[in-house]
Amino acid sequence: MDDIPQIPEREITPPEVYYNRRSWMRAGLTAGSVLATASLYRWFNPDVKVEVPPTVKAPLSLQKPLESEAELLARGWRVNEPSTAEHRILGYNNFYEFTTSKYDVADAAADFKTDGWKVIVDGLVNKPGTFTIDELHVISRPQERVYRMRCVEAWSMVIPWAGLPLAHLLEAVEPTSDAKYVAFETLFDPSRMPGQHSAVLDWPYVEGLRLDEAMHPLTLLATGLYRKPMPPQDGAPVRLVIPWKYGFKGIKSIVRIKLVADQPPTSWNQYASNQYGFYANVNPDVDHPRWSQATEQRIGELGRRNTLFLNGYEEQVAGLYSGMDLRENF
Ligand code: MTE
Repeated sequence: MDDIPQIPEREITPPEVYYNRRSWMRAGLTAGSVLATASLYRWFNPDVKVEVPPTVKAPLSLQKPLESEAELLARGWRVNEPSTAEHRILGYNNFYEFTTSKYDVADAAADFKTDGWKVIVDGLVNKPGTFTIDELHVISRPQERVYRMRCVEAWSMVIPWAGLPLAHLLEAVEPTSDAKYVAFETLFDPSRMPGQHSAVLDWPYVEGLRLDEAMHPLTLLATGLYRKPMPPQDGAPVRLVIPWKYGFKGIKSIVRIKLVADQPPTSWNQYASNQYGFYANVNPDVDHPRWSQATEQRIGELGRRNTLFLNGYEEQVAGLYSGMDLRENF
């Protein structure tokens, strides 16, 4: 995890708040073939704009925010910064189940089928369940959240996600008083995720949060971005987004969420615990052993910007860590 591109900024998409799930799906199919042909070209022309599926016009289903723009900003649900261009979010990814080459994930994952996907939610809960994506949307209608995303490799984006607060799903299954952590697991199926034939990580990819982190209103179970269903390369059909933590905590293509009593193992921590902590809270003062975390490359910008403590979400989440030394708990 260490290559950093130099790419100029492109565009901002207007903040509409409606989208249509069925049309999303059709758009997703088109996206696969468009991205496949575009990828090779982009490899040689990294500044070229790749065509992406058209934004769907039919009205439906993002929950209209009841709060004013100022309230959304204050809660951290929306950042006051331009979103990273859609083609850059779709074209530069980490998803080792497909390939370790960031520019090739879109191609490698283009045929990933997620029809009939179900997420098991079990462990220390009173009401375990198995949920389709549509059922997740019934538990809580998707809302738009525009978050900063800071990768531990010192690059960043601003991404307009759609999804439901993880807390809403956890409340529905009723954690017992013994539940202290939440463990997440990605699909394990090397026939569909060819990168799992290689031993680059122990599969399946696993992640975890403390229960209070998982219940925080910023923690999102994301099912879409740019008002369309989650594309394969970004973790279709459902992934985690915790904006104040390094991006590797944002586990993709989740099949199981288990409430547990003890801190669960996490993939990158198991790979190298001195480089990737369980907490992995963004902290410009704690360097990675091989590079500084003080600055970052915002994808699409020239130059570097300073990394913000807790990725700019200090006001919202610092209370989760009172009494903890965040240096020790990287
Ligand atoms: N989840 C799985 N299952 N496999 C992965 O390789 N990579 C992580 C995270 N989630 C990864 C994953 C890393 S290192 C980052 S930075 C983010 O996904 C990247 O998300 P993006 O490609 O949508 O920007």
